[in-house]
Amino acid sequence: MNLRLPAVIISSFLSTFLAWPVSAADPAAGEQKASSCVSCHGQNGNSANAQWPNLAAQQPAYLSNQLKAFKAGDRVNAMMQHMAANLSNEDIDNLAAYFSSQKPAKTGAGDPALVKAGEAKAAMCSGCHGAAAGGNGQFPRLAGQHPEYLAQQLKAFKEGSRKSGPMQAIAGNLSEDDVKALAAYFGSL
Ligand code: HEC
Ligand code: HEC
Repeated sequence: MNLRLPAVIISSFLSTFLAWPVSAADPAAGEQKASSCVSCHGQNGNSANAQWPNLAAQQPAYLSNQLKAFKAGDRVNAMMQHMAANLSNEDIDNLAAYFSSQKPAKTGAGDPALVKAGEAKAAMCSGCHGAAAGGNGQFPRLAGQHPEYLAQQLKAFKEGSRKSGPMQAIAGNLSEDDVKALAAYFGSL
């Protein structure tokens, strides 16, 4: 009986397992699929319309999550539900890998007084969205996002038309002025 055999089996199993593409997300395949997205979200995911979010440099896990939420009808938006309806989970992960790897364009600074007022309130957001608002995993990047889009989403959380435990509670405590200031600040980063 060769006592070393189990170790050999385990190590060969482990090396096979480690070599296996656990996350098969393919940004090049995502780029192919992205041709139907860029008319709204802009070339490379930097949108020219302030109602349509930038996707460039957004967290990949967050992008995948949102596309799955549109597809399942958990996040409600007629345009995006239509766009996500025919995407497979693989398409979604590839699109997320592509857009997250794109460089963000500077959207430009907003009204300096509003930006300053927003900065003073932003500490309560950075625990989840990151000190530079770059996001992390399921927590989206807010830096450089269109202020109009950010304000619209905060309003949707506040009204409950967009569901998310933590954000509904947080947005519920923001006044309209807070929303404007925070959106201007994060958009300016
Ligand atoms: C006709 C315009 C249009 C097209 C085409 C479009 N989108 Fe969107 N997308 C939107 C709008 C508008 C929103 C904001 C929805 C909302 O307010 O909830 C959005 C939101 C998103 C979000 C959520 C972003 C965030 O920060 O939460 C993702 C991800 C997204 N789109 C990905 C895609 C992908 C991938 C494609 C191509 C398969 C695509 N979109 C095609 C208009 C469009
Ligand atoms: C407890 C963690 C947490 C805190 C604190 C927090 N957020 Fe969020 N935020 C989230 C999560 C999680 C999401 C994604 C929700 C989803 O999946 O739809 C989110 C989403 C958002 C979005 C939507 C972004 C997009 O691209 O659509 C905005 C805007 C936002 N947060 C703003 C803020 C602001 C402003 C503050 C501070 C006042 C804040 N958040 C504090 C966890 C947090």
